[in-house]
Amino acid sequence: MLMWIRSLIALTVLAFGTAAPAQAQRGPVSLPDGAGKLLAEAACGSCHGLNTITRSQGYDTAEEWRKIMATMVELAEPQEETLADYLATHFPEKPGRRPTLIPGDTEIEIVEWTVPTLGQRCRDPIEAPDGSIWWTGMWASLAGRIDPETMEMEEYHLPPEARPHSLIADEDGSIWYTGNSNATLGRLEPRTGVITEYKTEARDPHTGLFHPNGQLYFTAQQAGMLGRLDPESGELTEIVTEPRPYGIQVGPDGTLWIAYNGTNKIGAMDPDTMEIRFYEIAEAETRIRRLALSSDGMVWYGNSTMGRLGRLNPETGEIKEWPSPSGPTSHPYAVAIIDDVIWYNESAMRPEALVRFDPETEVFQSWAIPSGVGIIRRTWVTQDGDLLIHQSSSNTVGLVKIQPPAESQP
Ligand code: HEC
Repeated sequence: MLMWIRSLIALTVLAFGTAAPAQAQRGPVSLPDGAGKLLAEAACGSCHGLNTITRSQGYDTAEEWRKIMATMVELAEPQEETLADYLATHFPEKPGRRPTLIPGDTEIEIVEWTVPTLGQRCRDPIEAPDGSIWWTGMWASLAGRIDPETMEMEEYHLPPEARPHSLIADEDGSIWYTGNSNATLGRLEPRTGVITEYKTEARDPHTGLFHPNGQLYFTAQQAGMLGRLDPESGELTEIVTEPRPYGIQVGPDGTLWIAYNGTNKIGAMDPDTMEIRFYEIAEAETRIRRLALSSDGMVWYGNSTMGRLGRLNPETGEIKEWPSPSGPTSHPYAVAIIDDVIWYNESAMRPEALVRFDPETEVFQSWAIPSGVGIIRRTWVTQDGDLLIHQSSSNTVGLVKIQPPAESQP
């Protein structure tokens, strides 16, 4: 019986993976008449349905449309111009998504790099122990590397059906990935290009990390599962959990903290027994994608659905939340902590906002991200104490250089 269910699930995923884009194209979307309509139908319908354009947030200017198109296709100049004019005329920006930016004393510098393969929608940047920066291009099933010395980029093609959701670097220089569409964890050895796959029961490995105990732990959102891989023996242990486990972090005492995007809970998992203790967050609508821990053991999270930044005290179970500057629909997403200061993004805003929150003063500060058309799904703190970000729509990976406070400058 179990086998039967599993093969049914596998078939469903396969059918969805291949049939969905074609159905989307055949859908009843018709673009408004005008010079550019035929071009849009020809150039923009191969990877996604035209409803991706009609439903999009839109842009007021041809220049903005040109920029976003350039992340997906390469067109000859006259065609690009006609199409950009057409899109700006018929699909201007929909109102209501400008962020509320809060000025403040902290100074940052944001640098962004465009990644090579078009339409890959890069995400989840990490820093490897050797200082190289890696990202995953889920839509092109690749892992990319930025050389820290030369800033040159190299892309490694993973099995096409893997569609890696996130990457994990190990101490030996290998890069592990979560094969979100082919139920695998994979290890890429960048020097040789050799890839080793480990088949998981969970159909969509999502986010993973190495624990100090040497084991790789991961979430699988749609499967509602959590797993542990022993990289030495290849032994996998997988368990069913609450709906849509998403982000995962390890705390100072080795406890694994799990964010749930399908229920109003945060989980604390014992790394050995994989038993989970749950903390319930007040409103039932609460959904959390990412969390991070401060040095005092507090768990900080973005309450996406309620538009708030939250803090859970694991000792007492007490929860405190602060409204995010851009309000209840701002959709806080990726959270990271640098020197016990909280950094996260308001992912529903356009331009997307990067927010800083100082728990000591309870003061917010925020900035617009230059390329600005989202979405940051995960951030990463570098060894230098800076923040890696990305923008899937703009196809960029970025570094937020955080200036030290004035009094600590020489
Ligand atoms: C090489 C593949 C590819 C082509 C060709 C392509 N796109 Fe996309 N585009 C994507 C992917 C992948 C997404 C993300 C879809 C999703 O998340 O469901 C996307 C999303 C979008 C979005 C949603 C906004 C966003 O970035 O999140 C818009 C608007 C868009 N495309 C416009 C266009 C237009 C206009 C063209 C034609 C000039 C085009 N696309 C051609 C790959 C492509």
